[in-house]
Amino acid sequence: MANQMIINAKAEKNTINKMIYGHFAEHLGRCIYGGFYVGEDSEIPNIDGMRIDIIEALKKIKIPCLRWPGGCFADEYHWRDGIGAKEERKEIINSHWGGVVENNHFGTHEFFRLCELLETEPYICGNLGSGTVQEMSEWVEYMTFDGKSPMTTLRKNNGRDKPWRLKYFGIGNENWGCGGRMRVEYYADEVNRYNLYARDYGDNVLFRIAAGPRGDNYKWTKVLMRDASMHLDAIALHYYTRLGDPVITTSIPDGNRRYLRDNSRTRKSATLFDKKDWFGIMKSAIYMDEMLYKNEIIMDQYDPDKRVSMVVDEWGTWFDCEPGTNPGFLYQQNTLRDAVSAGTTLNIFNNHSERVHMANIAQTVNVLQAMILTEGQRMILTPTYHVFDLYKVHQDAKLLDYALLSEEYECDGETLKQINASVSKAVDGSVNITLCNINPEKEAEVVCYIEDFGPFGRIEGKVLTSSSMNAMNTFEAPDNLRPSAFTNYTVKDNKITLHIPSKSVVLLTVKAPE
Ligand code: AHR
Repeated sequence: MANQMIINAKAEKNTINKMIYGHFAEHLGRCIYGGFYVGEDSEIPNIDGMRIDIIEALKKIKIPCLRWPGGCFADEYHWRDGIGAKEERKEIINSHWGGVVENNHFGTHEFFRLCELLETEPYICGNLGSGTVQEMSEWVEYMTFDGKSPMTTLRKNNGRDKPWRLKYFGIGNENWGCGGRMRVEYYADEVNRYNLYARDYGDNVLFRIAAGPRGDNYKWTKVLMRDASMHLDAIALHYYTRLGDPVITTSIPDGNRRYLRDNSRTRKSATLFDKKDWFGIMKSAIYMDEMLYKNEIIMDQYDPDKRVSMVVDEWGTWFDCEPGTNPGFLYQQNTLRDAVSAGTTLNIFNNHSERVHMANIAQTVNVLQAMILTEGQRMILTPTYHVFDLYKVHQDAKLLDYALLSEEYECDGETLKQINASVSKAVDGSVNITLCNINPEKEAEVVCYIEDFGPFGRIEGKVLTSSSMNAMNTFEAPDNLRPSAFTNYTVKDNKITLHIPSKSVVLLTVKAPE
């Protein structure tokens, strides 16, 4: 059986929210310090301490939003430590991530400045785990209130007269784990309480996001939807693509889970792996689809009108850190395997975008599945960056209905679908199809029909692939892996027959008839 795809160019569904292509930046390892932020006195070209090369690269992929300051760091972050004269800011220990000194030189003002430079929407995660209701409430007041108040006076004294615009606000992070080890029943009450005092000021209306489940903890979603969703705009699922989940879960009689640390298990190398590990990562990435379906079924029960969104504000691959680097810094290389896994996950998000409003890959620079790696002055773009570049065509485009029959990809008696895809229609009427061939050994022929489109205009293709599963970009060979033109297709009437290389991500753009 050949792979077959039928697209109905008139069957427009919802808009794919561009926020699905969002990013995450935590005070972790070299993401902020030594990544985004090098300080005003650095020899590395910067604006107000922010690296210009990083800003330019991220603007090119149209970064739509940036989540900050964590992660686990958010539930230990006290925002007042990060305002005022830099030399007077408190030095604290970043106890989650490497136990290093955090000098708080990058705080609220610096984050908004970074977002301004990136032309991206800020998304701030508040501290529910170790902070107080008053502290969260005053942070929102400090950032968004335009009247006269103690917080606005403080902001003005720190050099910012007008409030910032802030839409996306998280009320805690992973409160089942590093955000306070709470039972969901307890967290639901807490989120209602904190939420109440995180006020909307003037026309600044917050989009309130609660910490959602860890992966397939459906009980968390159910209780949160039942007890807190009436005051929320979204709940945030966290799920990492990895081999051998390092956290053991146990259930206690009320159905809640406990997440235990087990540091003895390995997440395996980001760069040295075999076909079985490749398959394992693809399987783990595809599991996102099942989790979203199951979470959506629960959300539909309590919110059939889909007012409350699903946000996946942490996702991506997680491997052992690069040998010789600080294990608390989560610095990992990025290969073609990460790219195919990212393309697959983004296809899943597009296909679930009726409910999924936003997603934030972890993390933008030098941490986990990064877009960008830096070494002193040097910067490289990872294969994952190139996938975001290819997929930017889907941002705010109309999701199109399609059917796909895929051949199986088999490894050690287990199977997955070899091809996955998503399709959207751009404002100019072009149809953009992104396809991943997750089989590392076998090319795929895909016979694709586009119905109700009329004669095709120009067709353009791009592909990201390599002969080697672990192809990557390094500081010595920064352009080893980058997209090239994809021309291996034939067209007859409304049928396009594509020959998609093994282990690849393809973008095919079919322009509207002139
Ligand atoms: O992204 C790294 C960490 O993973 C985040 O701090 C935390 O929220 C998650 O467990």
